[in-house]
Amino acid sequence: MAKFIGGLTAGGDCPGLNAAIRAVGKAAHSRGMEVIGFLDGFRGLVENRTVRLDMSKLSGILTLGGTILGTSRDKPHRMPVGEKGTMDMTPLAVDNYKRLHLDVLVCMGGNGTQKNAYRLMKKGLRVITLPKTIDNDVAGTDITFGFDTAMAIAAEAIDRLHSTADSHHRVIVVEIMGHRAGWLALGAGIAGGADVILIPEIPYHIESVIESLLNRYRQGKRFSIVAIAEGALSVEEAKKKENSSSEKEIQGPSAAVKLARQIESLTNLETRVTALGHLQRGGTPTPTDRLLATRLGTKCIELIEQDVYNVMVAVKGTDCVPVELEKVAGKLRLVPADHPWIQSARLVGTCFGD
Ligand code: F6P
Repeated sequence: MAKFIGGLTAGGDCPGLNAAIRAVGKAAHSRGMEVIGFLDGFRGLVENRTVRLDMSKLSGILTLGGTILGTSRDKPHRMPVGEKGTMDMTPLAVDNYKRLHLDVLVCMGGNGTQKNAYRLMKKGLRVITLPKTIDNDVAGTDITFGFDTAMAIAAEAIDRLHSTADSHHRVIVVEIMGHRAGWLALGAGIAGGADVILIPEIPYHIESVIESLLNRYRQGKRFSIVAIAEGALSVEEAKKKENSSSEKEIQGPSAAVKLARQIESLTNLETRVTALGHLQRGGTPTPTDRLLATRLGTKCIELIEQDVYNVMVAVKGTDCVPVELEKVAGKLRLVPADHPWIQSARLVGTCFGD
């Protein structure tokens, strides 16, 4: 019997999702399998909203940003339902999977998606996941698709900020996505030549940031670029977070705005903030992301053909390999303090605020 595959995209969208859908769909067709897509992430699975992914749907989407299936951050075990708050809809997800006689559910997503797929796996569904996120923080894989495109966008933004910062002799603080992992701020910061890079993994001392900015000024450099991840924290904030049970303990303006205010008041240097926000998630994927998504999507079908399930298709070196989902779910891949990118950045004089 031909295998029947259900696919969904969940969590924040990112460039490369359509390339992955196309790869899964086209490779499946070439092996005589059939594919349907669930709309809007796990919500579509719970509500049984599907679209048949025939060849006409898979055509012309390789370079398209976003996801033709739609996405959401809804989780089956805590699904928002009208005014009633949330409900555990897992039984409905399981029923729909069974009623459709699916052989496997392919879930494309970041950390939340890996966890939700794992929960469904424990309820008896066969799943395979693909690692996507601009944050690049999925455990078990060297890289996620979406990251390269977001890094290119953020690096280009930093390039553009240089000329205006230079002309006005300003400090520009550019906020880059990444609440818990700093891969994007780090990669784009290094590629764009940011003078200061602040990431969640390295809590910063404001004195160190100020000193490095003033140093540049003393050397006759009359502008500076600070790349800060959304989740970057000062040493004091990091301590406060460590001692608090709630993630939302640290309230108030964004990390970038707080930092810019401090820079201006402590240095008297005119300072501006640019938050790149969802620009980093929109638009056409880079060739690198298209290639990666195509490799992961086609490898997924090869694994299904070999009856390998309950794994994430990961990148290890130059290979795409299956990694058990239980080794991935609930884990984050953060930037290690001794990562080669950090060492290189330090050697070219980048300040990390530590
Ligand atoms: O997980 C990807 C991500 O883009 C993070 O970098 C960012 O913090 C978050 O999603 C933003 O989420 P939303 O689009 O739901 O506001």
